[in-house]
Amino acid sequence: MQIKTDIPNSWAEPWKIKTVEHIRLPNKNERKIALEDAGWNTFLLKSEDVFIDLLTDSGTNAMSDRQWAAIMTGDEAYAGSRDYYKLEEVVRRVYGFKHLIPTHQGRGAEHLLSQLLISSGDVVPGNMYFTTTKFHQEYAGGTFVDVIIDEAQDPTSTHPFKGNIDIDKLAAVIDEHGADKIPYISYETNVNMAGGQPVSLENIREVHSLCAQHGIKLMLDATRAVENSYFIKCREPGCQEKTIAEILWEICSYMDGCTMSGKKDGIVNIGGFLAVNDDSLAQQARNLVVAFEGLHTYGGMAGRDMAALAVGIEESIEYNYIYARVEQVGYLGRKLAEFGVPVVVPFGGHAIYLDINRILSHIPQAQFPAQRFAGELYLEGGIRAMERGIVSAGRDKQGRNIFPSLELVRLTIPRRVYTQSHLDVVSESVARVCQRADSIGGLEIIYEPSHLRFFQARFSPI
Ligand code: F0G
Repeated sequence: MQIKTDIPNSWAEPWKIKTVEHIRLPNKNERKIALEDAGWNTFLLKSEDVFIDLLTDSGTNAMSDRQWAAIMTGDEAYAGSRDYYKLEEVVRRVYGFKHLIPTHQGRGAEHLLSQLLISSGDVVPGNMYFTTTKFHQEYAGGTFVDVIIDEAQDPTSTHPFKGNIDIDKLAAVIDEHGADKIPYISYETNVNMAGGQPVSLENIREVHSLCAQHGIKLMLDATRAVENSYFIKCREPGCQEKTIAEILWEICSYMDGCTMSGKKDGIVNIGGFLAVNDDSLAQQARNLVVAFEGLHTYGGMAGRDMAALAVGIEESIEYNYIYARVEQVGYLGRKLAEFGVPVVVPFGGHAIYLDINRILSHIPQAQFPAQRFAGELYLEGGIRAMERGIVSAGRDKQGRNIFPSLELVRLTIPRRVYTQSHLDVVSESVARVCQRADSIGGLEIIYEPSHLRFFQARFSPI
């Protein structure tokens, strides 16, 4: 017997599959028709026409048997549901915030927070924009100012915490506008638009102390704070011995409140919340939530949804879960890198981002190269990805196109849904599109909605 000496230590998912959902790869001609019908916008494809769906990790998660069990015992009372109190207890214990205001999803919480705190003419600094977050800040009359560190704009920088806020940039914004024009700092964990890049505890502490000096609130976008906590445990000096729960708790301890999309870290299909410490702000939020979401003890979620979210939050902070979750994303990143595909590094927590500026460098940004690539990837392998470049960036208040420095395609991994074989197929399809990159052209826009255009815009190849 001759056993190799360097036997790898592979990881495996801490779950097995109990129910399966059938998927089908439409043939080449069907894919061509489907993409044309969708106006080259992957948001407009029918799910049935998609083989492997990496559009988003939002609400696309597989729930556990424990979560399904909780669904069956959900309390559907209009007022005072048992599951509201259960969720409140879990949010207090895990995130550490005193008041819970449930919402139908993250943007419902962003809406409430923005309406409550932002006045016309205000400035909201944050670590890179997120589409819906910025929309709500501007809808409430504010202006978003990006204060993320410069490394975030460089897809090749291996900075371990590319999501960090640049303290000098933030101090300059405070100097320029004055603290009374800044209702809060919008602080995102595992910054989505930067490539799923984490922030460090050290940065949070620094931002917190600057905010405290000026009496400015610090609000967390906790959507992927658990995934960020995993990176802190792996990368931040002195954090290796801390549990995910301890790190998450510490992140939140510096914050005045958070908005949360339960559809990500919370491992559910719908739901979210606003959580704050201030009694009077909570009171105002409860007054507002009844107008936009539902009574303050359900806020747009069914009782069973709150029950599933409460269990999902508990599962999300188990080390074995979060390790498998983030390392599966890394597996896809390594596969792509082995093929020579330019991707954003370090690999993100929820997605791998293709660096389209390097893949389709011959296409001007005004011809939507990342949007085109996403379409080509669907034609190639029935794989659905999402543009995160000029289309997502939209237009400024004067109506001009915003040209972001990052032109990316996001391959987003739903939680507990796909296996390594799916990701092998994805990496091979991406590499094949890259192989024929020179023969790919741009797109022109033929329909553009007035806001958040990436969801519904239609395109045609040039
Ligand atoms: N904040 C971040 C960082 C997000 O990624 C999202 C949603 C939201 C807020 C809004 O939450 O969807 O529950 O209303 N991101 C999804 C995505 C849509 O595909 O990245 P929501």
